[in-house]
Amino acid sequence: MEAALFDPDDGYYTTHASLGFGGDYVTSADLGPAFGRTVARGIADLWTQIGKPAPWDLVEAGAGRGILMRDLLAALERERPDAARAARPAIVEVSPRMRAQQSLALEGRDLRWASVAHNLAPIRGVVFANEVLDAFPVHVLSRTADGVREVFVGEAAGTLVETLRVPSSADLRWRIPEAVPVGGRWETSPAAEGWVASLAAAVVSGYVLLVDYGGEESELLRRAGAGTVRAFAQHRLLSDPLAEPGRHDLTASVDFTAIRRAAEGAGLRFAGAATQREVLLALGIRETAARAATPIDQLRAASRRSAVDELLDPNGLGAFRIVCFAKDAPVDGLRMFAGVRAEGAARYP
Ligand SMILES: C[S@@+](CC[C@H](N)C(=O)[O-])C[C@H]1O[C@@H](n2cnc3c(N)ncnc32)[C@H](O)[C@@H]1O
Repeated sequence: MEAALFDPDDGYYTTHASLGFGGDYVTSADLGPAFGRTVARGIADLWTQIGKPAPWDLVEAGAGRGILMRDLLAALERERPDAARAARPAIVEVSPRMRAQQSLALEGRDLRWASVAHNLAPIRGVVFANEVLDAFPVHVLSRTADGVREVFVGEAAGTLVETLRVPSSADLRWRIPEAVPVGGRWETSPAAEGWVASLAAAVVSGYVLLVDYGGEESELLRRAGAGTVRAFAQHRLLSDPLAEPGRHDLTASVDFTAIRRAAEGAGLRFAGAATQREVLLALGIRETAARAATPIDQLRAASRRSAVDELLDPNGLGAFRIVCFAKDAPVDGLRMFAGVRAEGAARYP
């Protein structure tokens, strides 16, 4: 998975990635500026929570085509010029291909890039990552009658096939929960956990905001045990994730229990979790502008409303999880969890 996504010469993200409606998959940012505008409100509130430092860092980690950062900055300028003026935007990005697309989207902006968060330290402000954790390679473990085995990728008759072997490191054996039955699979991503720890280490005061699909360990355990690694190309789920490595996106659902453990182990405090639907509603995504006067404006307004419906869809993007961690910053009273905190805390312990 690591080679298929990040091989320096032929990995998906390094050389072939194509994001957006004309590419392999869309993220919330592709649906129009409503996502960036609404998240910007939440981020401006986080800036207020830490006493409106000037300057402050607005860091997007894993920025894809750069349109989310573009929308965030435009929204801050419009709605919170005080925050926009003081912001020092930066992107943490590993893929040169993505960086090139980001610099096009953000042309004319004074922006820093880094391949690791450490190079932006000390960060005072907000680090934001949408759909990045799911792109980290996972180890796939399987409980067999003979003990825990790891799923490796081997070759047979010219095609890539799965083979079961003793786990590649002793530590992995303990990562599969007791509740996984014989025949069941479990995915674990030390790489994603290490990355969250690296973000934590770079922040001196402020917040880390992570958005992704996945669930708590208890929720992931309820799934059939078949694993969640999957491949996408041109908006279609592929039947064989091993076919044509590097040519399509590979992804796995995020284990938010493991992510929280890693974040707290690296010195962050849990500040809240809720679904994307809950957070976007709390931040006023439905508050709309004046009535559209002309037919074309009415059409545009209808298109914007349908984009918002998609962002809030409880069976789609609206079910994504938004988790916030704090360092040397308040954890109570965050606007993004207003009215959902108690419920969120109960559902995502
Ligand atoms: C699924 S895209 C998400 C894009 C964007 N955040 C959005 O919402 O549209 C994942 C992004 O994370 C980047 N990425 C993957 N691993 C990374 C890492 N270790 N550090 C920084 N960026 C990474 C990829 O190159 C890509 O730009």
